[in-house]
Amino acid sequence: MQISVVGIGYVGLATATLWAAAHDVTIVDVIQSKVDSINRQESPFEDSLITTRLSELVAEEHPLKASLNVAGALEGAEMVFVAVPTNYDEKTKRFDMRIAGDVFAQIAHECPDAYVVMRSTVQPGSTEELARTHGIEHVLYCPEFLREGQSLADCLRPSRIVVGTNEQALSDRYCALVKRIYEANNELVPPILLCSIAEAESAKLFANAYLATRVAFFNELDSFALQRGLNASKIIRAVCLDERIGTHYNNPSFGYGGYCLPKDTKALLHVFDEDAPQDLISATVAANETRKKYLVEQVLSLNPKRVGVYRLVAKYGSDNLRNSALRDIVSMLTNRGQDTIVYEPFLEQEEFGGAPVTHSLEQLFDECDLVIANRTSPELDNYRGTLFTRDLYHRD
Ligand SMILES: NC(=O)c1ccc[n+]([C@@H]2O[C@H](COP(=O)([O-])OP(=O)(O)OC[C@H]3O[C@@H](n4cnc5c(N)ncnc54)[C@H](O)[C@@H]3O)[C@@H](O)[C@H]2O)c1
Repeated sequence: MQISVVGIGYVGLATATLWAAAHDVTIVDVIQSKVDSINRQESPFEDSLITTRLSELVAEEHPLKASLNVAGALEGAEMVFVAVPTNYDEKTKRFDMRIAGDVFAQIAHECPDAYVVMRSTVQPGSTEELARTHGIEHVLYCPEFLREGQSLADCLRPSRIVVGTNEQALSDRYCALVKRIYEANNELVPPILLCSIAEAESAKLFANAYLATRVAFFNELDSFALQRGLNASKIIRAVCLDERIGTHYNNPSFGYGGYCLPKDTKALLHVFDEDAPQDLISATVAANETRKKYLVEQVLSLNPKRVGVYRLVAKYGSDNLRNSALRDIVSMLTNRGQDTIVYEPFLEQEEFGGAPVTHSLEQLFDECDLVIANRTSPELDNYRGTLFTRDLYHRD
């Protein structure tokens, strides 16, 4: 089957690599360096499994092809996965659907009969609206739940696959393809959940809203413990050993961040504003801001001469700086006149958020009397004395 995947991002590349095991797959993007990277069998972002798998696909003689020519890659495609950005627009308080709209227009032009599998996160109703606007008949919405840094591993072994379609025959055909592609990758076929397109779109937003709420909850617990001089770890353990709560995903942080949770919670909030009552999602969004402000006050109350910020990446094992909580923390510190320096090897610029950037850990600890870290690392072991972190469990 000829398949095109639009967008060489975490979602698009993991999807393309999975499907290339048994199909003729071309992935397209507008960024030359990403295309070149795939054609060299290297992941353009931190994910060693993708790099390994790209070389294996070449050895197996069905390489994943990458191209800048979107129209060329779409021509003749029987199935198209769309995994382009849907950024949150602060003005409209909705996802910005312009890139997805352009891609649907190109699909309508080049391969109008293809099955279009929307994978970008969208507001409920958006996928059908795009299909209607561009006259595309066969459309599915299949959300992705992967974690950055382990995108292919999560795509190969997902907890579930959600298939949203309003067309029974399309649902049957797609599910059969999904089963075969997992067998071709020598993986167990994951549980497949069938629902309408709007239900699948909603499931993605509510999954992320739950994760954000859980992060905000344990952060709030941690702020409470910090304020009262209590041991947060003991409280969290006592709370989480209840099986209904669970000991996972409970590590305090400087706030949830990354590409998805901040934008998806805010977009969901707007969906509610339009048609249903809610209190919880707005509280989660507000709690995340409160947490950042509280920790900034905690840092400033220690009267440091110079604060070092250890890494801006949002998570362990990620090279992604998008919307990490530490980005806001840096700006909040410098806006308060706090002398601050940022250590982030992935940053090429010399200044960030009003603070100079260094690539030297020695400089960071030599020049700062306090270093804050959202997540610690073994490389910090020698420097514990001057560290301010709320990372209790050394994981996300
Ligand atoms: N990152 C995640 O963990 C994750 C998880 C689940 C869902 N999502 C959702 O999936 C979507 C994609 O996220 P991502 O993290 O993979 O994005 P990304 O930013 O990593 O990748 C998107 C790619 O699309 C490319 N692109 C932009 N315009 C294009 C065009 N006109 N034609 C072709 N390519 C174009 C960009 O250059 C970029 O390389 C978003 O809606 C996101 O919310 C992301």
